[in-house]
Amino acid sequence: MTDVDVLPAAEAGGRAAPRYDGLTITFHWVTALLVVSLFALAELWGFVPKKMPLRHEMISLHVSLGVLLAVVYLLRVLWRRSASRHLPPADRGLQHVAARLVHIGFYVLLAVQVTLGFLFAWAKGAIGVFGLFSIASPVTVGRVAHHWIAALHDDVAWVIIILAGGHAMMALAHHYVIRDRVLHRMLPVAAGR
Ligand code: HEM
Ligand code: HEM
Repeated sequence: MTDVDVLPAAEAGGRAAPRYDGLTITFHWVTALLVVSLFALAELWGFVPKKMPLRHEMISLHVSLGVLLAVVYLLRVLWRRSASRHLPPADRGLQHVAARLVHIGFYVLLAVQVTLGFLFAWAKGAIGVFGLFSIASPVTVGRVAHHWIAALHDDVAWVIIILAGGHAMMALAHHYVIRDRVLHRMLPVAAGR
């Protein structure tokens, strides 16, 4: 692990602050893009009449992107627990604790949501992935369970999106209000200020 936790916390937002490694940054933004796309698709297909093929295509795309999210999530966890770069906390005290809880919350909620999504999809049959292959269900999901899974999948989706909104606002506040380099260290390209 290339930990740089030895750096004083004061440097976390300072000019000398290093950035996350490329793979961590890639996993972060691919995850964010997938989560927002999955949510947007699910909210939009509600406006498409049930008989239209477009609605089914949107649901198929949602499921395929969901499988992609599961793969990205597993790789991300493996990477974050092995050779990835860990930076000193961006905040102190309670703010640091809150930020840590939000990050851990994302990992827990995404694992729960992906599991619910797979069960939801398997309740309807095998999971088709971009029309390339399908994953047969290893479980039988009854009608009552199906109902609860559907409700929970929707609730967890909203919790993730609201949390992501707060998290993004904090990142933007660091950039535009506190004017430190916390956002820069997660950006794909190094930007100077
Ligand atoms: C659904 C969307 C998002 C999820 C699930 C998410 C999740 C995470 C997680 C888990 C971390 C901890 C680092 C890691 O383990 O990789 C993190 C860090 C970070 N995220 Fe996000 N994020 C999302 C969207 C955003 C957006 C939209 C922004 C900016 C506008 C942003 C800015 C940051 C920054 C700057 C950090 C580094 C914070 C630090 O170094 O303490 N994230 N994010
Ligand atoms: C963060 C990730 C995800 C978000 C934000 C999300 C969000 C949603 C939302 C809001 C709905 C509509 C729920 C309703 O109205 O009852 C939905 C439905 C669904 N999701 Fe997800 N989802 C995610 C991941 C997944 C995954 C990983 C899978 C499976 C691989 C999946 C499979 C499904 C299925 C099968 C439906 C029902 C489609 C239908 O109505 O026939 N989702 N999702």
